[in-house]
Amino acid sequence: METRYKTTGVAGAGAMGRGIAQIAAQAGSTVRLYDTQPEAVQRAIQELGAQWDRLREKGRMDEAAVAAAKERLRPATSLQDLADCDLVVEAIVERLDVKRSLFSQLEDIVGPDTVLATNTSSLSVTAIAAGLKRPQRFAGYHFFNPVPLMKVVEVIAGLKTDPSVCEGLTAFAKQMGHTPVQAQDTPGFIVNHAGRGYNTEALRIVSEGVADFATIDRILRDQVGFRLGPFELMDLTGLDVSHPVMESIYQQYYDEPRYRPSVITAQRLAGNVLGRKTGEGFYRYADGKAQVAP
Ligand code: NAI
Repeated sequence: METRYKTTGVAGAGAMGRGIAQIAAQAGSTVRLYDTQPEAVQRAIQELGAQWDRLREKGRMDEAAVAAAKERLRPATSLQDLADCDLVVEAIVERLDVKRSLFSQLEDIVGPDTVLATNTSSLSVTAIAAGLKRPQRFAGYHFFNPVPLMKVVEVIAGLKTDPSVCEGLTAFAKQMGHTPVQAQDTPGFIVNHAGRGYNTEALRIVSEGVADFATIDRILRDQVGFRLGPFELMDLTGLDVSHPVMESIYQQYYDEPRYRPSVITAQRLAGNVLGRKTGEGFYRYADGKAQVAP
C-alpha cells in the first residue's frame, strides 16, 4: 500500500521527533529530520540506526526493511530542505511564540497543499495556527513518549482546519501502526487533561508530607498497576516539558485550582534537574537504571 505522505518532514530531533521519524520511515515515508542543533539530528540518526539493528536482531524487522528504513531517513540541514514534504510534523520546544515562528517560516517554503502539524502537548492548535496564511492545512498530531510503543495519537482540528487534513493524518497514523483518536482543541486535549491529576496530585501528596515520591511510585506501579509511577513518568518526559505543560493547562483553565502546578517541579526546573535527559530528576540515572538519590 502506498504511504499517505510520500515525504514527511520532522522538525525537532529530540525524544518525540526521533520517535515520529522512526515510525514514519518504517511506514514507507521518506523522512527529512530537521533541528536547529545539527548534532541533535546526527545523534538521532545514529540512535535510530542502532534501534533498527536491535529490532532486526530480535527478529521484529527483516534485513530489507531495516535497510529501507535507514535509507529513507535523511538529515535536513535547513528548513529549506523540507520544501518537498507533503507533511511536516513539529516536535520542538513547547513555546507558542517559537512554534508560531517556525510554522510561518515553513508556510513560505512548502507547497500550498502540504499539511503542517504540531505535536504540542498543551498549547492551543487554533492559537498556533492564528496568523498562518493557510490555517486550514494545519492540525494537531499529538503522540506520546516513547512514540513507537505508545500507540495512541490524538488528531486535533483547530477552528479552521479542513476536515480532509484530519482524515489524512488519521489514515497515516494507522499506516504507522498507531491508533488515532479525534480530540477537541481544548487544554490538554483528552489524555493530558485526564492525566493531569496523576502528576499534580502526586506532587501535592509529597508537599503535604503524606508519602515520599518513591513510595508513591512503588504503590501506583506495583500495587495499582500503572506502568510508571507519576515521578518516573515526569523523569521520562522531562520537567522542561512537563512543568510548562502543567502551567499552560492551569492558565488555560483560568487558574483552576485542581491543575495548579507545583513549586517542587518549578524549583527543579530552575535547577536544571530535569529527569533522564540530565541524568538526574526525582531519581538518579546510572547505566540507564533509576536510583533513589542518597
Ligand atoms: P526535546 O527537548 O527532547 O527535543 C526538542 C528538540 O527541538 C531539541 O532537539 C531542540 O534543539 C529542537 N528545537 C528547539 N527549537 C527548535 C526550532 N525552532 N526549530 C527546530 N528545532 C528546534 O523535547 P521533546 O520531549 O521531544 O518534546 C518536543 C515537543 O513534543 C514539545 O512540544 C512537547 O510538549 C511535545 N511532547 C512531548 C512529550 C514528552 O513526553 N516528552 C509527549 C508528547 C508531546
